[in-house]
Amino acid sequence: MKALVLSGGTGTRLRPFSYSMPKQLIPIANKPVLEHVLDNIKDLGVTEIGIIVGDHEPAIAAVFGDGSGLGVRITYLRQEAPLGLAHCVTLAKDFLGDDDFVMYLGDNMLPQGVREAADAFRAGRPAAQVVVQKVADPRAFGVAEVDGAGAVRRLVEKPAEPRSNLALIGVYFFTAAVHEAVAAIAPSARGELEITDAVQWLLSEGHEVRAHEYAGYWKDTGKVDDVLECNRELLDGVERSVAGEVDARSTLIGAVVVEPGARVVRSVIEGPAIVGAGTVIEDSRIGPHTTIGRDCVLTGARLEYSIVLDGATVSHVGGLRGSLLGRSAAVSGSELGSHHRLVVGDHTRVEVAA
Ligand code: TTP
Repeated sequence: MKALVLSGGTGTRLRPFSYSMPKQLIPIANKPVLEHVLDNIKDLGVTEIGIIVGDHEPAIAAVFGDGSGLGVRITYLRQEAPLGLAHCVTLAKDFLGDDDFVMYLGDNMLPQGVREAADAFRAGRPAAQVVVQKVADPRAFGVAEVDGAGAVRRLVEKPAEPRSNLALIGVYFFTAAVHEAVAAIAPSARGELEITDAVQWLLSEGHEVRAHEYAGYWKDTGKVDDVLECNRELLDGVERSVAGEVDARSTLIGAVVVEPGARVVRSVIEGPAIVGAGTVIEDSRIGPHTTIGRDCVLTGARLEYSIVLDGATVSHVGGLRGSLLGRSAAVSGSELGSHHRLVVGDHTRVEVAA
């Protein structure tokens, strides 16, 4: 079996981050979403991985290279424009050949892994197997109508009146039968080749399509609030490990990771939290549910339920919560006394205490 990971797209919901970096490189528990994805794929014994990439290809290739660092072989497949999930399959036709494959959205987190789903697919080899989970409001998702034995009867994209609460959650298994399907369908009203249309085509041609219900935690990290929520979920699983320096006047509470070369001075870190390599924290109170990337400097900061990316600085600012600070961002207390001073880029969101 091979894997096809989709890491193109525009990431409009994650602006402004997606202007300068692919959203698949946003760190969750200080590891890029895409690395979590590749780990899950490797866990299936799959090492031949094609990654669909858009304009952010150089940034992704700079992190993962040929995949040897992770023990896999990566082939980058360039998509000039995000023309849909099924379009990605057409681009990967030569790479995939006649092999079965798992298609995995590069911004979806399934921390319990998809081994059970892969085993079910390998056992029965239906033309397609979708991974589904019950959701409270299915209207925003592709929805599978499934019979009592797990056979899919119908797939509907974002139905106004859903007839099932089983949403498709970003992982699909296919045999080579899907290549005929993606070639047969036409673009949808939004101009994309939809994977749900391709799977629906397989159904209407009499192929077997099955659904596997994933029981673990799942999050599509396409929006800031979901990134923070997912970070919280993963931090709840970390254990204390202190490789960096913590001075005698600092206190670590609970599961705190202090990576090598990091320094914590006169501060309180409340776990779960991660302090990235090379980061310096002084006179601050950090956590819980917070990850700080590498080479950041936090001085006189109070920060909880947040993510700070590499190289950012926070000085003399209290009360930060639910925040996502980009690489090399600088947030500081105002020298203008009671005023706020904001230098804010396109599509940035700022909420200040009134
Ligand atoms: P989406 O999150 O649905 O699309 P997007 O990345 O354009 O984001 P937004 O809606 O915020 O603008 O895509 C799911 C995943 O599939 C994501 O990792 C990007 C990837 N993708 C491609 O690689 N090519 C495509 O043509 C599309 C539509 C998505």
